Amino acid sequence: MRKTSAKASAPAKIILFGEHFVVYGSHAIMAAINRRIHVAVFLNKTQTINITSNLGIIGSYTDSKFNLIKGGKNTKEILDPVYKSAVNVLSERKQNLGIDINVVSEVPHGVGLGSSAACCVATVAAVDSLFHKPDKLWVCSKAIESEQTVHKDSSGGDCYISTFGGLIYYSKIKGFKTIETTRDLSLIIVNTGIKHRTGDLVSSVKKFKNDNRSLFKDLSSCADNICQDALTAINIGDEKKLGKLMNENHTLLQQIRVSHKKNDQIVRICFKNGALGVKLTGAGGGGSMVVLTPKEDKIKLTSEIERNSYECVPVKIDYDGLVIY
Ligand code: MEV
Repeated sequence: MRKTSAKASAPAKIILFGEHFVVYGSHAIMAAINRRIHVAVFLNKTQTINITSNLGIIGSYTDSKFNLIKGGKNTKEILDPVYKSAVNVLSERKQNLGIDINVVSEVPHGVGLGSSAACCVATVAAVDSLFHKPDKLWVCSKAIESEQTVHKDSSGGDCYISTFGGLIYYSKIKGFKTIETTRDLSLIIVNTGIKHRTGDLVSSVKKFKNDNRSLFKDLSSCADNICQDALTAINIGDEKKLGKLMNENHTLLQQIRVSHKKNDQIVRICFKNGALGVKLTGAGGGGSMVVLTPKEDKIKLTSEIERNSYECVPVKIDYDGLVIY
């Protein structure tokens, strides 16, 4: 029996270790955060897919042709993966239907927190649940295909963490392992205010890799070792070591040229004010930073960063992952 409406939500994410290098087979440590993307879908009586988002953008697709209803010139780029997520499921389920999709995001787009991947995960799940109870692994694989329409070299990590939640040790070759920990990391997310396109940064790293093969190989192997050491540090609760490894990871990201001067300014502010570790998170080029603080200094550090005109977002790890209502 087919339903006429369905809802799902999926969490945004941070990458604690290993972004960019994960695209080339190294490990990454990723965490889902308690900021969600909610997607509601309703069958309509046309053959059109209409998408509305609380980011203030609206578009519709008829016979795969995009029609801008509200928003700026990047609207199609933001809505395309949502559209692809819906049509991927409809074609798998051999359904030729029109759907209204309503997206409510608790995180901004283009700041490195995985909103696009989370949106794909929630859309695939919501549309699939019109027909039956979706399987999470299947949802994740379809979300990755949809995300790859805008970011073709995606490692898939963002979709995995958004689907399964918690804290994971991920490799695109070996899959993921849940990191079981009850310890609460004291984290602050800082928005640099600079938006980026993940696909562009991944392409710039690809160029860096092709121009500097042997250096990139060495940096990748350092990134992988940092991830392994970080896994041990998380398991034994050694926060000082974890912070030091975050700083080392940021240095590697500077070397592959994905850090922006704002990212590095935030590093300096955090170092001056007692952070245990700080690094960019996600694609970089601005976007967001993740800061590990001693629990007792979190408030002081947050106000110091805010005093320098950067927005801080307090986050906790989300253990629910994809939720289908
Ligand atoms: C983006 O959130 C993370 C990157 O490593 C790209 C990817 O893993 O697909 C930069």
